[in-house]
Amino acid sequence: MTAERSKPGRLFGVGVGPGDPDLLTLKAARIVGAAPVVAFFAKKGRTGNARRIVEGLIGPDAQELRLDYPFTTEIPVSDPRYHAQMAAFYDTAAAAIADRLGAGTDVAVLCEGDPLFYGSYMYVHDRLADRFETTVVPGITAMSGCWGRAGTPMTRGDDMLAVLSGTMEEERLAARLASAEAAVIMKAGRNLKKIRAVLEQCGRLDRAVYVERGTMEEERIVSLAETSDDTGPYFSLVLVPTTRMTV
Ligand SMILES: C[S@@+](CC[C@H](N)C(=O)[O-])C[C@H]1O[C@@H](n2cnc3c(N)ncnc32)[C@H](O)[C@@H]1O
Repeated sequence: MTAERSKPGRLFGVGVGPGDPDLLTLKAARIVGAAPVVAFFAKKGRTGNARRIVEGLIGPDAQELRLDYPFTTEIPVSDPRYHAQMAAFYDTAAAAIADRLGAGTDVAVLCEGDPLFYGSYMYVHDRLADRFETTVVPGITAMSGCWGRAGTPMTRGDDMLAVLSGTMEEERLAARLASAEAAVIMKAGRNLKKIRAVLEQCGRLDRAVYVERGTMEEERIVSLAETSDDTGPYFSLVLVPTTRMTV
């Protein structure tokens, strides 16, 4: 007689929003509260932002699966070692999650903002979604949290919004900015000086708003033209709203 195999666990990719714990959806809070295993990515030695957001929601008997990044900004994306080492890290992380799922345990993987919008969860999803039942719980993105706090209408009518990265080289950044009425520039912190210079060249600096740690306790929102900071924290972005005025 063969032993009965347990039903595999379910994978949940849970968006936990931009930082304010009140900006979690009801569904995210329910799934995090019921999950027997809660997995999250974090920088070595840090609590992990997504984990911090759900403090107080995780069930008392839940097991936490901490997935420490091997590095964050120490190796630049342009370095060939970046992709090789990150791929190996995500393989190991996915295997650790698959072990739990294979044993019949549900796993909720936390992700800041929305899990499928530049979220680390995606790399787990890529590796496991075709093997296990998977549910993605959308989250409020950092950019919508930030523009809500800044009170900045971003797009009107048929405006186009470009979502760009501060890591892009100047020329490409300028070209993309020119092709859209409004833009959000993510990963601003280490690239602030370059972003300010490009926006000035394009004549769009006066409208740009710089947001650090939007919706979190240490939030800072300033006009980019009025701050002389050349660098900022990881959790920062620049909003470039439309010039189209109200009807
Ligand atoms: C890996 S992406 C994560 C995006 C996230 N999944 C989302 O839906 O917005 C990280 C970048 O998001 C931006 N970010 C995330 N949270 C933020 C916050 N609370 N305030 C400002 N920027 C934030 C920063 O630009 C940061 O470099």
